[in-house]
Amino acid sequence: MKKLTEKNLTESVLSQIKTTDARKERIYKSFIKHLHDFVRDVEPTQEEWEQAISFLTATGQISDDKRQEFILLSDILGVSILVDAINHRAQEEVTESTVQGPFWRDDADVMELGANIAQGDAFDKGEPTVVRGKVLDPDGNPVVGAIVETWQSDADGFYDLQHEDVDKNLRAVFKTADDGSFWFRTIKPCAYPIPDDGPVGKFLRDMGRHPMRPAHLHFMIKAKGFRTLVTHLFLEGDEYLESDTVFAVKDSLIVPFSASNDKNEAASLGFEVPFYKANYDFVLKKEK
Ligand code: BEZ
Ligand code: FE
Repeated sequence: MKKLTEKNLTESVLSQIKTTDARKERIYKSFIKHLHDFVRDVEPTQEEWEQAISFLTATGQISDDKRQEFILLSDILGVSILVDAINHRAQEEVTESTVQGPFWRDDADVMELGANIAQGDAFDKGEPTVVRGKVLDPDGNPVVGAIVETWQSDADGFYDLQHEDVDKNLRAVFKTADDGSFWFRTIKPCAYPIPDDGPVGKFLRDMGRHPMRPAHLHFMIKAKGFRTLVTHLFLEGDEYLESDTVFAVKDSLIVPFSASNDKNEAASLGFEVPFYKANYDFVLKKEK
């Protein structure tokens, strides 16, 4: 029998992979090679390796249908945004994508254009805001009937999914009008920490990093014949734009949320002054 040594061990593990699926073979072999290289590089003590296993165990154990700690881990390591960048190369003329994050849910209500997505307390505690825009194709033509889904945190920085009652709030699905336009009322988004009371938060603190994300609105936009766009709009001037803990900010997605004291417009929106206005046109990529 061949003697397994520190030197030849990687080859031995790789040689046992017998899948006939070339893509899987490439992924599994590369993963094992890089993992062994990492271990050779840092030479963990037995205790350190046990800590790593405990960390992964805790990451799984805290995850459920409302909390996805592994997505969070991928996000704070910059892996989610790297996968996104690899899959959305060279598309200057279309709106840039960014991470989806763990707070999307598949049962958001369909609302009429102009609806207020902030219900009850969530509206009262926030700063009234109207968001308008269009969905366009790369030639500037309107995309009629595009599905525009949006979700955001409340004024305390929490998504509906993070509350005990989990009632749907601060999210909705709209359909663009005949000129490709959409609009809705909401509250101005605020910067917030990602959930940092679990293993990922501990990991961030261990690295000397903060858990903050700059204020943003999430969007997922779908239309027949176009690639689905998952992105954010970030609030211009936010102090965390340069140090987003999940590395999701792109210059092209930063927009002003301008304050308005126009009482007539406020009244027509059911707002008091001051209120905020944001505008953005999304450009979708044509599916080949
Ligand atoms: C979010 O923006 O909802 C989010 C993204 C990544 C990690 C945590 C939260
Ligand atoms: Fe978010």
